[in-house]
Amino acid sequence: MLLTEIDHIAIAVNDLEAAVAYYREAFGAEVHHREIVEKDGVEEALVKVADSYIQLTRATRPDSAIAKSIEKRGEGLHHVGYRVANCQEAYDAMVAAGAIPIDPAPRPGSRGTTVAFFHPKSSFGTLIELVQENPGSGH
Ligand code: CO
Repeated sequence: MLLTEIDHIAIAVNDLEAAVAYYREAFGAEVHHREIVEKDGVEEALVKVADSYIQLTRATRPDSAIAKSIEKRGEGLHHVGYRVANCQEAYDAMVAAGAIPIDPAPRPGSRGTTVAFFHPKSSFGTLIELVQENPGSGH
């Protein structure tokens, strides 16, 4: 079994401050980590739940994947991050099983992680992100 934890569920939102305020009011949740990932055109606010995260994500520019997703499908669940011990190993296993990678190889993600995305059409309609934590990633 290559999956060690649900790392995060990512929720695409238009207004990150409103989403953060909502999670605070509804659940008493505080933001554990916040980051702008320029390369992906996103800003994330991570709420920690046990050893997993709810990742509230907004687009920082109109050509980001989050902006396109909201344009097409509205706000809501965007992808699921599966935590793995070794991103390359899990990447190779998924490719061998017929999954279609979006990233040509594992690459840096937020929190100092190593990540790789796989196309939803090869994974029963769910955009899957593999997440490998590295020293300093926060766990
Ligand atoms: Co993610």
